[in-house]
This record gives sequence, structure tokens and C-alpha cells, in this order.
Amino acid sequence: MQSERTPGLHIGIIMDGNGRWATARGLPRALGHKAGVEAIRRVVEAAPKQGVGTLTLYAFSCDNWKRPETEVSALMGLLRLYLRNEIARLIENGVRLSVIGRRDRLPEGLAADIARVEAATVTGRALHLRVAIDYSARDAILAAALAGAGRKDIGREAFSALVTGDACVPDVDLVIRTSGEQRLSDFLLWESAYAELHFTERHWPDFDAADLAEARAAFQRRDRRFGGLGATSAAA
Ligand code: FPP
Repeated sequence: MQSERTPGLHIGIIMDGNGRWATARGLPRALGHKAGVEAIRRVVEAAPKQGVGTLTLYAFSCDNWKRPETEVSALMGLLRLYLRNEIARLIENGVRLSVIGRRDRLPEGLAADIARVEAATVTGRALHLRVAIDYSARDAILAAALAGAGRKDIGREAFSALVTGDACVPDVDLVIRTSGEQRLSDFLLWESAYAELHFTERHWPDFDAADLAEARAAFQRRDRRFGGLGATSAAA
């Protein structure tokens, strides 16, 4: 089926701080990731009500393979559980789920689980939820450059479709990073060329609808000029 662009903002979230949240409570890091899944549920439910059409969540980067094997398998287990447990709720709420990133290094069966949820939710129009797994923005840009090599006709729009793998995904409007770090860590680098950035001290497992609303409100106050002069300066 041909996908359609979901109207609304595109927000990307770097879900940081699961480990610190757990450590502060004397819990194993894996329980921080588990609590992070609850935050994902809250935000996925809140996003369409707050004018978000596309939500891209950074769940596992290509560099996260460097973490201890126990943590990697805990994360992969949570991803599998999320896909299996969440499918009915996603369909009911009109959420289309797609996964970006490599699939050839995932544990056995996970790629099939992903494909199943993608197919089952493809008609969802309330929210396009994109989950980045084994994802690297630089690798996505490199792959697009190789795919487009030799094509003289290619412009930014066509190249964007190669980078995202989906012509219906708009540029990112806002990137949120939790837990106080202020960097992009190889997340949506091409798509975020004019994104506003919002950093919050909140650890991801504590993030909720009110935090999303606060980030939205801060975004609303920004003067997005896209290299032009913007409303205030142009009128002067
Ligand atoms: C960063 O916190 C978070 C991650 C690397 C993983 C994010 C994954 C989830 C929220 C759960 C699984 C995802 C889905 C879609 C089911 P960190 O561990 O780097 O925290 P720290 O910086 O405090 O150590």
C-alpha cells in the first residue's frame, strides 16, 4: 500500500537517561530501559493530541552494540516485547509503526516481528511512529549517496526520500533530548537541518505528556527563519 504523509509536526526524540534513572534508584540498568518503554507508551498516546504527526524515537544506535552483551539483549528483548504486546493498541489508536535502521544484525526473529507490525499498522493515520533500531544517520546518508550516485537529476527532495527510505516522511521540526546531554549522536542528521533543538534535564523514564507539551510550547515560541529574515525582521 502507498503510504501517505501524516499531517502535523515531526518530532525526533533521543531517549536518554534510562541508565541514570535506574542507578539513582539502586536498580539494574535494564529496569531503566523497561521504565523507558512506559514513557514511550505515554508519549505515543499524547503525541497526536498535541499536533504531532510523525514521531521518531532513537531506541538503539549502531554504536550501542558496544554496550555489554547483557544490556544489549535486555534492550532487544524489550523491543521484541513492545512489538508483540503493542500491536493491538497501535492499530486501535491509528498508529502506523515503521522501523528505520539495519535489520541484518538483529537477533533471530526480530526482523520478522518488525515486518509483521509494519504490515499490520500501515493504514494508521493518527500518528506515524518511527523507531530507530541499529540506526546511524551517517550510514543512512552514505547509503543514499551510493544509491543516488550517477543520477544527475537528483535534488534535495529526491535525496531526502533516499535518506529516509520513505518519501512521505517530512523534515524534522523539533529534536528533543532528555537527561541533560546536548548532542545529536548520529540521529536524523540530514532530516534535522532546520530542526529546533530542545534539551531537558528529565530522565527519559520520567518523561510524560506534560514534558512533551512543554517542549511543544518552547518550539512554538521559536522564530524559525530557515535562513531568511523571519516575520519580525522582515517587517522592520
Ligand atoms: C539511553 O539511555 C537509552 C537507550 C540507549 C535505549 C532506549 C530504549 C528504550 C527506551 C526501550 C526500548 C525501546 C523500545 C522502542 C521498546 P542510557 O542507557 O544511555 O542512559 P544513561 O545515559 O543514563 O546511561
